[in-house]
Amino acid sequence: MGAVRPLNLKENIEGKRIIVRASLNTPLEHGKVTNAYRVRAALKTIEALCARGAKVVILAHIGREKTMSLEPVWEEIQKHTKLPIQFSNDIGHAEAQRAVDSLKNGEAVLLENVRRLAGEKENDPGLAKIYASYGDMFVNDAFADSHRTHASIVGIPRYIPSFAGPNFIEEMEGILPARTPQSPSVAIIGGAKFLTKEPLILQLLETYDKLFIGGALANDFLVAQGHEVGKSLVSHSEHVKPLLKNSKLIIPTDVVVEGPNGIEVKSVRDINPTESIFDVGPESLAALKPHLGKAKYILWNGPLGNFENGFKDATESLAKTIAETQGVSIVGGGDTVTAIHDLDINDRFTFVSTAGGAMLDFISNGTLAGIEALKQASV
Ligand code: 3PG
Repeated sequence: MGAVRPLNLKENIEGKRIIVRASLNTPLEHGKVTNAYRVRAALKTIEALCARGAKVVILAHIGREKTMSLEPVWEEIQKHTKLPIQFSNDIGHAEAQRAVDSLKNGEAVLLENVRRLAGEKENDPGLAKIYASYGDMFVNDAFADSHRTHASIVGIPRYIPSFAGPNFIEEMEGILPARTPQSPSVAIIGGAKFLTKEPLILQLLETYDKLFIGGALANDFLVAQGHEVGKSLVSHSEHVKPLLKNSKLIIPTDVVVEGPNGIEVKSVRDINPTESIFDVGPESLAALKPHLGKAKYILWNGPLGNFENGFKDATESLAKTIAETQGVSIVGGGDTVTAIHDLDINDRFTFVSTAGGAMLDFISNGTLAGIEALKQASV
């Protein structure tokens, strides 16, 4: 098996049809993109290819429902570039083929959400061949989606010469050092679903000096400690309790709950069965702060609270605290990055990844399905 080949922008690509798998899974509100950082990142690659005379066919997904369209993302794209990027509301059929065939040098077309097609998630070889027929070469620039074994990620490299795009390489190189942090180090993991994060948690407990658990994930640890968590989201895994013995683990001692009395900050000892936990409390953040202050290495992925529903305080406060630290700081995950962008402090972190789940998988395993597919790509 070879290595991942980076896209070489010095090669002559004039007139070449290049398929770019971009990461354009952006948050939408009322049909509008609310955070464009993935759009801006993808455009850097697309513009570089078009500037060199390539004909660019962009493949991407949005959301998890087959009904979702990339059209709002295309509208957002146009606010950030002067490039003539067309949109085809077809993919996999004659109309998409026509859109690809009509491209002139230096033009690009975004095809509709790949997840609309049967066979995308199943990595159907027939579908991968259709995608591959759109280009002379393939550039995977969607590191954030490359933990998925889908046709547009792992299928296409079997059929045409395939390369890792600049964003992909930047993500790989930016995240890789987080597997071997310098001491003293602190990892912070938020979000939900203990079961999917269990291997990562075990690895972080090996490689980091402290591991702070936030988000709904913390509820599982509070349950294991014997606390009432009311109506909070929990995943009930018997694998949590044995971890409590680990002195590296930091679990919140206070939380923000919502219940019959409205929204309140409470000690984890005082939660009622009628309440739900939605954020980490200030006392817990204050306890984490000294560890962050002396850390040479900080890794953070996932919001500390129910960010989508407005419980942003702990996440934003943590973002500001890390932004003031002197060591290396690597952060990622959709909501985490949204918080950092909203606060306009992204340049105060060593590396801000556009990836969420893919970042965690890469830290856990040192590779991704999309990386392996590029290594085995057709030459
Ligand atoms: C992400 O937003 O993490 C990636 O785009 C992957 O999306 P998915 O979790 O829907 O596969």
